[in-house]
Amino acid sequence: MADQYALRTDAAGSPAPAALRWEEPPEGPVIVLLDQRRLPGEEVELVCTDVPALIEAIQGLAVRGAPLLGVAGAYGVALAAVRGFDVEESAGMLAGARPTAVNLAVGVGRALEAYRAAAKEGADARRAGEAALAEARAIHREDARASELMARHGLGLLDELLPGGAHQILTHCNTGSLVSGGDGTAFAVVKAAHEAGRLRRLWVDETRPLLQGARLTAYEAARAGMAYTVLADNAAGSLFAAGEVDAVLIGADRIAADGSVANKVGSYPLAVLAGYHHVPFVVVAPCSTVDPGTPDGAGIEVEQRPGNEVTEFPVTVPAPEAGAAPVTGVAVAPPGAQAYNPAFDVTPPELVTAIVTENGVVSPVTESALAELCDRSRSG
Ligand code: MRU
Repeated sequence: MADQYALRTDAAGSPAPAALRWEEPPEGPVIVLLDQRRLPGEEVELVCTDVPALIEAIQGLAVRGAPLLGVAGAYGVALAAVRGFDVEESAGMLAGARPTAVNLAVGVGRALEAYRAAAKEGADARRAGEAALAEARAIHREDARASELMARHGLGLLDELLPGGAHQILTHCNTGSLVSGGDGTAFAVVKAAHEAGRLRRLWVDETRPLLQGARLTAYEAARAGMAYTVLADNAAGSLFAAGEVDAVLIGADRIAADGSVANKVGSYPLAVLAGYHHVPFVVVAPCSTVDPGTPDGAGIEVEQRPGNEVTEFPVTVPAPEAGAAPVTGVAVAPPGAQAYNPAFDVTPPELVTAIVTENGVVSPVTESALAELCDRSRSG
């Protein structure tokens, strides 16, 4: 079940409310989400008391973005355990809620392993649930720490690629604190550049069909006090042609072993544009997004979403009656129009200038360099 309540809306300049937290009110533990479907108009929290509510929030994009999906999935396993639901079944449902962001299955898997290990050592259900919760908290903390490190490594890379001065960076989708326990992935680097006086402007792709850029990245950029401009995705080409983009920074949902990058649909065309215009195309993602089990881009399952997200324009409506959908669509195509709606696309490694992780930077992107960098964190 999910309840909702409104937060006060603060002025620009203050950090966004936490995207996710665990709470233990007297009625029992809950996962509290900042409902991203309602931003930027309203800051409304969604309180999940069970796994089906969390899965609905994940599939409906109330909570989203690869690193945060990993955190949410892990807390979901803990919620199932401490509330006495079937943990194995809940974990299976959570891991499959969205297929592309590998962090979701990784987060669920880690919390489930912690639960199983405790149970195997004789812990009762409550103590095994606490072990899963401790693992979820650890993933949450690790993600915040990874954000800090990616920001540091990413800023260092920008200094090398674009020495001196302040620059114009283009980004796609949403990669800030709304997707993370910290400042996020690509947006953490942008924020560090802004704070170092190295950002002239953030170009924000609106990111059709669901407008994660126009709604969420613009919200985060405004709160961070940076100069930003929203553009229709198909305006990016003319920006490159005019020499107005110095670098592209994006996140990732899954990076295959060979360095192929799945990210929000529209990322691959940006990589092609960046290559043509000799502009660095940089991917920022924690090692938990690198999937050694997926050999190459062809092995990445790309989530296909409902066609009405394309044939309609999404409009966020004010706080609805409990249970009503917060986003409705205004039809822009004729009734019955077919739609193609992959949520992600895949960029081959040869179009990626560098991948920035918490362990450092891979450039050029090769399978062996990526494995070496990320195996370090898996073994440690
Ligand atoms: O469908 P979404 O909104 O979950 O897609 C999110 C993205 O594509 C992000 O760019 C990606 O998760 C990287 S965020 C660190």
